[in-house]
Order: sequence, then structure tokens, then C-alpha cells
Amino acid sequence: MSSASERREELKAVFHQAQSCVKCPQLAAGRTTVVFGSGNADADLMFVGEAPGANEDKQGVPFVGQAGRLLDTLLGEIGMARGDVFVCNVLKCRPPGNRDPLPQEIDNCQDYLFRQLELIEPKVVCTLGNFATKLLRADPTGITRLHGRVEERLIGPRRVRLYPIYHPAAALYTPAMAEILRADFRRLPELLALPGLDQPQPVVVEPEPEPEPEPVIPDPDLVYDEQLGLF
Ligand code: URA
Repeated sequence: MSSASERREELKAVFHQAQSCVKCPQLAAGRTTVVFGSGNADADLMFVGEAPGANEDKQGVPFVGQAGRLLDTLLGEIGMARGDVFVCNVLKCRPPGNRDPLPQEIDNCQDYLFRQLELIEPKVVCTLGNFATKLLRADPTGITRLHGRVEERLIGPRRVRLYPIYHPAAALYTPAMAEILRADFRRLPELLALPGLDQPQPVVVEPEPEPEPEPVIPDPDLVYDEQLGLF
């Protein structure tokens, strides 16, 4: 496995690659910045939200608006700060008018998220709301049924504890939901303290063996000619 600094360098390379992404022409045309993600590139805890909003699009940083402030408050309540975790979204570009991400956009963008997971190597991945939960569980079950239930999942090459919770934006105006989110958040330290999961062995791709040189089959006519010449 590569060192944390090698993984960080590779993450920076993916970040630079994403800056000029035009896989979703409508999103590329309307964005101010690509909001790749921010925080600790070697974090044990990674949060995955939905998509940048207007503030995030302007600043190039995820969760800087009202939902982000709630996220910061909840992190503070468990003794953590942004610099301890990595925060990103399913989509790296803002959908116009903050509409829901389209299936094609999720499909176009998902490799960036999978590379982030592979390079950051988090122990716990906390999905915020439906879009991230459905994508990383590869299943349409909604957040209302799943929030607060931890499960072990293989995501790409990495085995993680996946922990779906409500999206902070949904909790902003619904105090009952905010209390559920807060209670789910309080379990994070206990999940982070669990021993790391055994990781699958990386698949070592053996180089193809050099092909054996073709045996030279003598051309019977040539042999005959040569033999003729002998006499
Ligand atoms: N909501 C999200 O899902 N992500 C952000 O970055 C901001 C708001």
C-alpha cells in the first residue's frame, strides 16, 4: 500500500484532472468552480453529501453554507473539526438551481468519488442523505429506513464501515430530524474507535509472459532447393 504522502500526491493529481472535467456539459457550462472536496487527505472519517450549492460553487469548498455550519456544529459536539475529516459530494459541480443530480451526472462523476475513497482510505464513510447513500450502497433503499445503521461494505477496492445519516440541509428546518441527526452523529466516535477492517488483497496483475519465439519451420521447398544445390 502506498504511503499517506504518495496517496495525497495522487489525490492532488485527481483534483487537477477534475478541474477541467466536461463530462456533464450543462454542469461544466454553469459552474464557477469544481468542488472536489476538502479536509484531511488521510482522514479516518469521510462525509459524502449530494452536490455543491451556490456558496460552495463560488468558494470551491463543500458545505460552506447553512448546512455546512450545522455540519461544523455537529462535528464540534463530538470533539472534531473539518481538518480531521474529509468532506466531499456525489457531484463535484453545482446543478442549476440546486436541482437533484441526474442519474447520468451521478454516473459521469462517480469515478472521482471512488478514487477519493481509494486514496484517502477512510475507516468510516458517512453518507449524508439519499443520493450518497443510494450510490455507495448500490441500492435504492432510502435514508429514512437506513439512517444510523452501520454496515460493512466493500466500495471499490476498500472495505469500510458505511454509516448513512440524514443530510444536514434536511435537518435545518425540521427540529425532530435535527435531533435524530445529532443522535446518529454521537455514535461516530465509537465507530471510529473500532479496529480497522481487513482489507482485500490487492489484485496483482502478473505481466504477460513474453511469447515463446515461433519455431522456425523449414519451408519444404526451400529445403528441397537447398538440398538440390548440394548436389
Ligand atoms: N449540500 C451538499 O450536499 N453539499 C454541499 O457541499 C452543500 C450542501
